[in-house]
Amino acid sequence: MSTPRVLRQSLQRLAQHARCYSKTTTTTAPLRTQPQRLPTAWSTTTQLSASASARRSLSTSSALQHGHVDPPKPGEELYVTFIDKDNQTHRLAVSEGDNLLDIAQAHDLEMEGACGGSCACSTCHVIVQDQDMYDRMPEPDDDENDMLDLAFGLTETSRLGCQVHMTKELDGLVVKLPSMTRNLQASDFKS
Ligand code: FES
Repeated sequence: MSTPRVLRQSLQRLAQHARCYSKTTTTTAPLRTQPQRLPTAWSTTTQLSASASARRSLSTSSALQHGHVDPPKPGEELYVTFIDKDNQTHRLAVSEGDNLLDIAQAHDLEMEGACGGSCACSTCHVIVQDQDMYDRMPEPDDDENDMLDLAFGLTETSRLGCQVHMTKELDGLVVKLPSMTRNLQASDFKS
């Protein structure tokens, strides 16, 4: 009496294995089929940069990629002077509201701005030359202070260029670009 039941159980187990096997083969099969094709218009360079950007969420960028500023309207010019790494001075007429990163990059001055002005690096570090002018600026917030702590050659009047916006009170501002910047970014400290 028990033999047919044992036989039935064995058959059921066999049928179950067969179903599992068939599921496994159908789910894994697509992985073994053709490799993913990239659009033919992609160049090798594009593919390489795509894989590079997948590895790193923030990247450095050339000075010319950012920093569009409109010329100031006649009679509304504000002036800011940059002292570059070679101690050359660049006095520029700018508009109210422009930030120092955009101004520097629009005039081909050497300010990297690795995070694109999102307060997540310290490569736009500038040193305000006049304490009085520094005191006229709104206080740096916590994010800016955190990034300033990573800046090379930090001083009492250091600021991040992307966080300083020109106002009438800052007309005549003079800032120096440090001799080096340190490209540490907020993302470097994420686990
Ligand atoms: S550009 Fe990165 S903090 Fe200013």
